[in-house]
Amino acid sequence: MKYAVRYYTKTGNTEKLAKSVADALGVEALPISEPVSEPVDILFLGNSYYAFSIDPEVRSFVLSLDKGKVGRIVNFGSAAMLNSTYKKVKAEADKAGIPMDKKEFHCRGEFKGLHKGKPDAGDLKAAADFAKSFKDE
Ligand SMILES: Cc1cc2nc3c(=O)[nH]c(=O)nc-3n(C[C@H](O)[C@H](O)[C@H](O)COP(=O)(O)O)c2cc1C
Repeated sequence: MKYAVRYYTKTGNTEKLAKSVADALGVEALPISEPVSEPVDILFLGNSYYAFSIDPEVRSFVLSLDKGKVGRIVNFGSAAMLNSTYKKVKAEADKAGIPMDKKEFHCRGEFKGLHKGKPDAGDLKAAADFAKSFKDE
């Protein structure tokens, strides 16, 4: 299995999760400004909610993906109040013709004094364990 990890972050929380996921898989965590040029079985995509939606850059990134190169997307991320961005990412993945795995990782992320220190060490370990579970498939 070949994996890639891409993330979008505004305040660093998704980057922390992405590094944990990527370390567990033995690949590099890269921002979405880095295109997925090599074919991969799974693209782990880290993203968050901003003003009730995903960032337009995340939408454009998913739409730009080549369905011949990306087998499926695994969503991961954090938010302060809302639950996962899964449905928002899936709407774009559907347009790009790329399947989304039903499994995903989501935790709380610090925002303006809420959830201080999140994602914390426990969240990072849980994210790594989540990523490792795909290696046993
Ligand atoms: C500008 C901005 C808007 C946000 N809007 C929401 C929101 O609508 N709902 C929510 O649950 N969290 C919201 N958050 C919280 C983020 O989703 C949360 O802090 C997340 O961990 C940020 O990830 P990042 O550090 O990788 O950017 C917002 C954060 C920022 C910076």
